[in-house]
Amino acid sequence: MQIGSIEVNTPIALGPMAGVTDWAFRTVCAELGAGITVTEMVSSRALVYKDKKSAALLRKNEGSVCGAQIFGNDPQIMAQGAQLALEISGCDFIDINMGCPMPKIANNGDGCGLMRTPELAEQIVKEVTKAVDVPVTVKCRLGWDKGSINVLDFAKRMEDSGAAMITVHGRTRSMLYSGVADWDTIAKVKRSLSIPVLANGDIVSGETAVRCRNWTKADGIMIGRATFGNPWIFPEVKAALSGDAPYVRPKLSDRVDVALRQFEMAREDKGEHIACLEARKHFAWYLRGVAHSGYYKEQISSIQKMEDVYRIAEGVRKDLQ
Ligand SMILES: Cc1cc2nc3c(=O)[nH]c(=O)nc-3n(C[C@H](O)[C@H](O)[C@H](O)COP(=O)(O)O)c2cc1C
Repeated sequence: MQIGSIEVNTPIALGPMAGVTDWAFRTVCAELGAGITVTEMVSSRALVYKDKKSAALLRKNEGSVCGAQIFGNDPQIMAQGAQLALEISGCDFIDINMGCPMPKIANNGDGCGLMRTPELAEQIVKEVTKAVDVPVTVKCRLGWDKGSINVLDFAKRMEDSGAAMITVHGRTRSMLYSGVADWDTIAKVKRSLSIPVLANGDIVSGETAVRCRNWTKADGIMIGRATFGNPWIFPEVKAALSGDAPYVRPKLSDRVDVALRQFEMAREDKGEHIACLEARKHFAWYLRGVAHSGYYKEQISSIQKMEDVYRIAEGVRKDLQ
């Protein structure tokens, strides 16, 4: 698959997720086989105002084709924001967020709010593609709500405006993250476009990845929540899509090694304090489904320093499997 002129070897993407897909986690996922990664969403306006925290989210990871995702609703500011994002991160492509359902964002006309103003969305894609020399992609949903599903027309407009790829999350804005993703509509989008389409929503295993690909005939798939504490979903999905023998996840002590490396990279990226606060969430995810892990999960919830992380990891290795 190609995103514009960029060759993608493995069309299995890690979805952009605010508060989750930082540089450390993206690096781990890329090492395990995610062919495409995307940064957490960043406000175009904040970039233009030189906000340091926003800029820090854009660090490009190695090992995958990496996009920087921006949001906003002003074509000129989005164009400037895209230039800055590219300059800051050296990313391979710019992704425009047209799917975020959070009221603060969508009710402001950003994120999924842009699906209610398709002409403005078109203008944004046109301005951003003019402003940067890397491919520009779009991530959207089915539409605003059940009564206004417009992704078929919307996706075509994005293609005609210059988008090099589109990711469709098979839910409406009003569904947020509940209900079932509608792969039928994604299949219709795929049939009506020439640019690559990534199918997104409810892919949680190798088996669901195969079903989604066969159902939608999408060029690739994007995985969000099922990656939490489980970057091994990438080799699992890759094996299933290639028809190889089912992938067997490493044993817990090896998984803990990967988690530790992620937290060490996070410390390098954002300092010990923030990395440790964020490790509380990630580490608990890594232990999801592990029998008798309650005692350690409680300790994880009060991690302050890397020493705590190492001590808990040692205990997990010794006591659990
Ligand atoms: C915690 C969280 C944060 C997210 N942040 C973003 C974001 O910054 N940009 C974006 O386009 N989508 C964001 N999403 C949506 C995901 O990329 C994805 O589209 C959605 O979770 C559906 O895929 P899934 O069913 O595989 O989880 C977020 C989702 C979650 C759960």
